[in-house]
Amino acid sequence: MRIILHSPLDMHLHLRQGEMMQAVTPFSAGQFAGAVIMPNLVSPVDSLEKAAVYKKEILQCGNTENFRPYMTLFFKQYSRQELIEARDSIIGIKLYPAGITTQSEKGVTDFSAINSTLGYMEELGIPLLIHGETAGFVMDREKEFLPIYRQFAEDFPNLHIIMEHITTADAVQLLDRYANISATVTLHHLMITLDDVIGGQLEPDLFCKPIAKTPKDLAALQDAVFSGHPQIMFGSDSAPHPRHKKECCGCAAGIFSAPVILPLLAELFEDAGKLNLLQGFISDIACTRYALQPLEKNITLEQKPWKIPELYNDLKPFGAGRVLRWSQLQ
Ligand code: NCD
Ligand code: ZN
Repeated sequence: MRIILHSPLDMHLHLRQGEMMQAVTPFSAGQFAGAVIMPNLVSPVDSLEKAAVYKKEILQCGNTENFRPYMTLFFKQYSRQELIEARDSIIGIKLYPAGITTQSEKGVTDFSAINSTLGYMEELGIPLLIHGETAGFVMDREKEFLPIYRQFAEDFPNLHIIMEHITTADAVQLLDRYANISATVTLHHLMITLDDVIGGQLEPDLFCKPIAKTPKDLAALQDAVFSGHPQIMFGSDSAPHPRHKKECCGCAAGIFSAPVILPLLAELFEDAGKLNLLQGFISDIACTRYALQPLEKNITLEQKPWKIPELYNDLKPFGAGRVLRWSQLQ
């Protein structure tokens, strides 16, 4: 049996720069027609010029002939004129609360002081992608951030707001109340809870932000995704860090899932008896929510066992060593 996926899209991806970018980009470009590229570089992508340079660098990586990087800008206070000029070159603007995750130090400190930029974004039809966590207790950070989503959704009813990488039942519920809010869900948050991260031996390769939550939260995410929720799309949040930054004191947050995404998602959807909903999650819902017309690209998966490698050079992939039922037809 085979599955053909049409123009798969990864709506949240970290590609980094330099050698790391060259190492990881081919995995995403080989599976996806396009991906939303996160702007949290060492020097954040916070101008049209930087976005253009970064896009060019990405397109010089291997496998990218038929791959579209959808660029984002790092949220800061932008003028209306800057946004008019940027609008056709970006898919949205990514907002990080200051200091909440990897390379977010230049993020937002005062959420009541950014209304002018949000107003321009609403007027110009530029989506707002948010890493929605407070600096509170780690298990409550997403829940504590929900009032800010509510405020923005009500104050800017025509602004498309994307709750990135949601991990809680509460975030899923919020979607029912606001038509202008969407969400992305990662592969790993459809599979693991906090128990997998710290319940046995500490697993640095499963440490990410937001941290995986409770079994109840996992079930809520699975229920929503495996029922084809029309506001939820796939975003891997694949976030590679070299081994010495993972296997050390002060482990960096981020899971490197890029090489395994489509075969593993196929297995999850098949186990849930919902293979028919994979196309929606992996592309169609994102196209509707973002009004995208992606590059035409068909990816075929075949039912042929594939063992996920233990390592890709210096990077440990999510699911390392696991044998999957599906593999990508090359
Ligand atoms: C991401 C990274 O390393 O850039 N890390 C992560 O744990 N997800 C940043 C982010 O999306 O929070
Ligand atoms: Zn991310």
